[in-house]
Amino acid sequence: MSFHFEGLLEVNGMLTKRPATKILVDGGDPEETLRIKSLIGFVDGQTTNPSLIAKNPEIQQLLASGHRLSTQEEKDEYKKIVQSISPLVGDAGVSIEVFADLNTTAEEMLAQGQEMFSWIPNAYVKYPCTHEGLRAADMSVRKSIRVNMTLCFSQEQAAAVYAATQGSKEPVYVSPFVGRLDDQGEDGMDLVRNIKKMYERSDGHVHVLAASIRTINHLLCSFFLGAELVTVPSKVLQEWAAAGFPMPDQDFVYKGVDAKGRPLKPIPYKDLDLKLPWDSFDLTHELTTKGIQKFVADYQSTLRRSA
Ligand code: E4P
Repeated sequence: MSFHFEGLLEVNGMLTKRPATKILVDGGDPEETLRIKSLIGFVDGQTTNPSLIAKNPEIQQLLASGHRLSTQEEKDEYKKIVQSISPLVGDAGVSIEVFADLNTTAEEMLAQGQEMFSWIPNAYVKYPCTHEGLRAADMSVRKSIRVNMTLCFSQEQAAAVYAATQGSKEPVYVSPFVGRLDDQGEDGMDLVRNIKKMYERSDGHVHVLAASIRTINHLLCSFFLGAELVTVPSKVLQEWAAAGFPMPDQDFVYKGVDAKGRPLKPIPYKDLDLKLPWDSFDLTHELTTKGIQKFVADYQSTLRRSA
């Protein structure tokens, strides 16, 4: 396994190595994106989700003043936020997530996705790695809508993303959630490693976006594994900057451990055939279901009861 650097990065007058992996801010606040851009000198892109949007300071202020949003107001706020972030970031774009519960159909997701895609020139629409999310992605790429497939917790889901979006003119992102697998004792970085390995024999149209990053070690391992992109909370980027922008060297060894230092359970590699139809892969994963439920709950926490 190897990784490479891409040029030099100037931070506060000092030249340092910039990784080939694109760095995105994982957040929902344009001010935060701006602060990170000043701190590290660039931001390649941004990912947002319903939980992060609910935490946006202006939305929090509205809620604190007793105002709850209608669904239209929530959509308007989301649009305003991504329109402020859009010009701050580079070519990895801004990912905007559709509001989907476990019953939302592909057609309903696509209708939202089409609208969200028109909000900014550099949008990626986030759909969940479910049967309906994959169907929405399939339809989206045929309409040249860029997509980011979120809540990915298995190699099968990543194989299905590849098969469903084949022929896409634009890169498709798949977002394996590292931290949430770690949280349940499995080594989330193994999922990134396994997907990268599986895609070695692919046409390269799907880019791996390491997500749910919790530590500098996750970040360094994402660089080392050659993830095309990594989305990182500002807190971790601040720690990375404070540590002097460390990079993994050729001998980098990642040790997946939990908060108590106990080793995480390895996730074995599976030999999957990317030529199979996307709906032949087992798309179910408990964490995908839980993730959708959490996004719905956070979204609804900002809404009026009658909204
Ligand atoms: C980004 O696209 C994801 O929504 C995000 O990384 C999830 O992170 P979390 O597991 O910390 O909520």
